[in-house]
Amino acid sequence: MRSFLAGALCLSVLASAAPTLSVRDVPQTEFLNVTYSSSSGSLHNSSLPNVLILATGGTIAGSSTSSEDDTHYQAGVIGVAALVAAVPDLLNISNIDGVQFANKNSGDITSADVLQLSKLINYALCRSHSNYTGAVVTHGTDTLEETAFTLDITLSCSKPIVIVGAMRPATATSADGPGNLLEAVTVAVDPRAKGRGALIVLNDRIGQAWYTIKRNANTLETFGAPEQGFVGGLLSYTPFWYYPATRPTFKQTFKIAAINTLPAVEIIYAHESYNPKLIKDAISDGAQGIVIAGTGAGDESLAAEPYIAAAVAQGVPVVISTKINVGCVVPSAGSDTIAAGFLNPVKSRIQLQYALANNYSMNATRASFEQVLGSMIGYGASG
Ligand SMILES: *[C@@H]1O[C@H](CO)[C@@H](O)[C@H](O)[C@H]1NC(C)=O
Ligand SMILES: *[C@@H]1O[C@H](CO)[C@@H](O)[C@H](O)[C@H]1NC(C)=O
Ligand SMILES: *[C@@H]1O[C@H](CO)[C@@H](O)[C@H](O)[C@H]1NC(C)=O
Ligand SMILES: *[C@@H]1O[C@H](CO)[C@@H](O)[C@H](O)[C@H]1NC(C)=O
Ligand SMILES: *[C@@H]1O[C@H](CO)[C@@H](O)[C@H](O)[C@H]1NC(C)=O
Ligand SMILES: *[C@@H]1O[C@H](CO)[C@@H](O)[C@H](O)[C@H]1NC(C)=O
Repeated sequence: MRSFLAGALCLSVLASAAPTLSVRDVPQTEFLNVTYSSSSGSLHNSSLPNVLILATGGTIAGSSTSSEDDTHYQAGVIGVAALVAAVPDLLNISNIDGVQFANKNSGDITSADVLQLSKLINYALCRSHSNYTGAVVTHGTDTLEETAFTLDITLSCSKPIVIVGAMRPATATSADGPGNLLEAVTVAVDPRAKGRGALIVLNDRIGQAWYTIKRNANTLETFGAPEQGFVGGLLSYTPFWYYPATRPTFKQTFKIAAINTLPAVEIIYAHESYNPKLIKDAISDGAQGIVIAGTGAGDESLAAEPYIAAAVAQGVPVVISTKINVGCVVPSAGSDTIAAGFLNPVKSRIQLQYALANNYSMNATRASFEQVLGSMIGYGASG
């Protein structure tokens, strides 16, 4: 639960961040801004790999005055140095550098924050002579799948990014954060984690970011990919993998070096009697793309059709996803809307933002969502 103090912390963090800087125009040593380093003391072990932890806040950094409080604690108060100090075993497997990227509820993380985070990580991992084996991002679980998906589609090298969170604050009995953090760093230094893009690690499971979603608002067993499954897991803090490294079939990647801002894309949630004028209102308010969280496999109401047609006629792409969150909206020939395929509404929104920011045409935007699935099953199949 948010509190007034969390809001104040979030403002001070925003004031010190520099969201419009890019790798090109920032002095590189300042750009990374490592605020904690296990290597600065006697702890450095040159035979261990280096991992960069970027802390953003969330429940994993959450605190409460009661060890029985799993619901009304304050997220995003414990800093990166304290997170590492709580798990000294991390230093048996890696040297740790820490960046306090933000410290807030994941509901307050913005698209601009995640673009900046991706630039930092691409600089840290993918530049020549990079000194890091992998990166770990600590994050609130509520929007974790969104940040993980963004990092996945914008990562420019084969090193792993592991996104980790917790469902219980650090002060709870059986807090899950310390174990999850140790598992995340363990995965980040595993050579077999390479070439899998961004990975979500919680509760002894490893999921590929492109497919993984949050499935339960409260329980420890929340992240998963209901259709595609996990790619691996951990036993006694040791990773195992069900498959060799693979790239999700439908994954598109996007360049970010030349992007400094992302356009607004809004999600409209469909249900009985929803007001389709919200589509028009969103565009009037600046949305450059629309995602509809459709009722099933992407059916639109008759009442929405003129609003959708008007948006498309204005050059505003309309992507149809499904509020079911699992399953597929199938592309069909001749449609004026774009079918999201297997991307749920929040991930569709992000992909549309990055297509628009890269000046994709309407056709190229459509291809980024539909082409791979369309070429597999044809455009005639209906949902
Ligand atoms: C680096 O982090 C420190 C500590 O949070 C902050 O005071 C400083 O402004 C940051 N520098 C840059 C360039 O972001
Ligand atoms: C450094 O790490 C190596 C590899 O895990 C280990 O064998 C060695 O004992 C460590 N050295 C120290 C001083 O901890
Ligand atoms: C980490 O190293 C310490 C000191 O050598 C040892 O007591 C501890 O069991 C190690 N932890 C793991 C998880 O191997
Ligand atoms: C890795 O490189 C960054 C950026 O130059 C630097 O700030 C950091 O201290 C280095 N860390 C280690 C462990 O070498
Ligand atoms: C997209 O087009 C705008 C307007 O022409 C331009 O300013 C911007 O640099 C382009 N973005 C990219 C990523 O090429
Ligand atoms: C977009 O795709 C459609 C269908 O493939 C095609 O008819 C149309 O010419 C394309 N438009 C542009 C501008 O490429």
